[in-house]
Amino acid sequence: MKTYRKYPNTRLRRLRQSDAIISLLQESRLSKHDLIQPLFIAEQKEKATAIDSLPSVYRFNESGLIREIEELMKLGIYTVALFPSVDSSLKDPLGSFALKEENFLYKALNKISKEFPELITIADVALDPYTDHGHDGLFEDGKVLNDETVEILSSQSLMLADAGATILAPSDMMDGRVGVIRNALESNNFKDTLILSYAAKFCSQFYGPFRDAVGSKANLGNQGKTSYQINPSNIEEALQEVALDINEGADIVMVKPGMPYLDVLSKVKDTFNLPTFAYQVSGEYAMLHAAIQKGWLTQGVMIESLLCFKRAGADAILSYASKFIAEEYLDG
Ligand code: PBG
Repeated sequence: MKTYRKYPNTRLRRLRQSDAIISLLQESRLSKHDLIQPLFIAEQKEKATAIDSLPSVYRFNESGLIREIEELMKLGIYTVALFPSVDSSLKDPLGSFALKEENFLYKALNKISKEFPELITIADVALDPYTDHGHDGLFEDGKVLNDETVEILSSQSLMLADAGATILAPSDMMDGRVGVIRNALESNNFKDTLILSYAAKFCSQFYGPFRDAVGSKANLGNQGKTSYQINPSNIEEALQEVALDINEGADIVMVKPGMPYLDVLSKVKDTFNLPTFAYQVSGEYAMLHAAIQKGWLTQGVMIESLLCFKRAGADAILSYASKFIAEEYLDG
């Protein structure tokens, strides 16, 4: 800050006198290249089914998914994050369906990676869509097992890479999983598969609608994920998580949730200077959407919230509003 700048030599309102000047001097910009659309996929007859707590977001079957991806690509969104919504009859304590070849997610990934070679697919690595207790890993005697879970995540990662996932995104928060996954990829000739680590993932109440979407909420009950996700108050610990994941071989790191954690995002970007993503999670989207529906807030809050992620240092953003923002606001 230069101290010689004083009124009236300096009038900052000169910078805001017209839309053209405001735009010329804009520091951060949001473009379609920054947007990632999370998509839910289910084995179902209907092309698309609604999710109550995530309005305007759908679970797609394979053909619905393909149609949705075509629409996204026409709008200029080339990156999607895929999450399976698994029928409860296929869930068990070990999350076995995660490692079954007949899992519809692998078939869909295979198909879309062949059909859309320029599409970037991000595949989540975790067991919560598959376990009947809703935890991201194996759960025994009231505890989520770390090393045993990591072994399964490593197999899951190889299957996802083999099915054509461009980027693997471990969202489970087990210790050491990025290193184990990276080694498995290297020794199985998946040298180009990227790892986007959910490195600073906090134990947040903002994940509620997502848990509805994948059907893990009722299963999880009152059990929180406090033994593996970070305490929302802890930034030092979040930075340690990021440092570990980078050392273990993450190409990109993520901060999640987004809006209440912009200080963490900014610090992670400044500290490590690596590709850093932010996730505007389901609860953030749902609350903005609900307030817009009620007429309490205007639509512009959605793009404002994403622009603020860019200002804080995000290189790209996962948001359920990505498609809507690209349709309504962005032409380049
Ligand atoms: C779980 C996972 C979660 C999200 C992405 N992967 C939820 C959780 O940790 O319970 C949340 C995404 C969102 O809320 O939009 N592996």
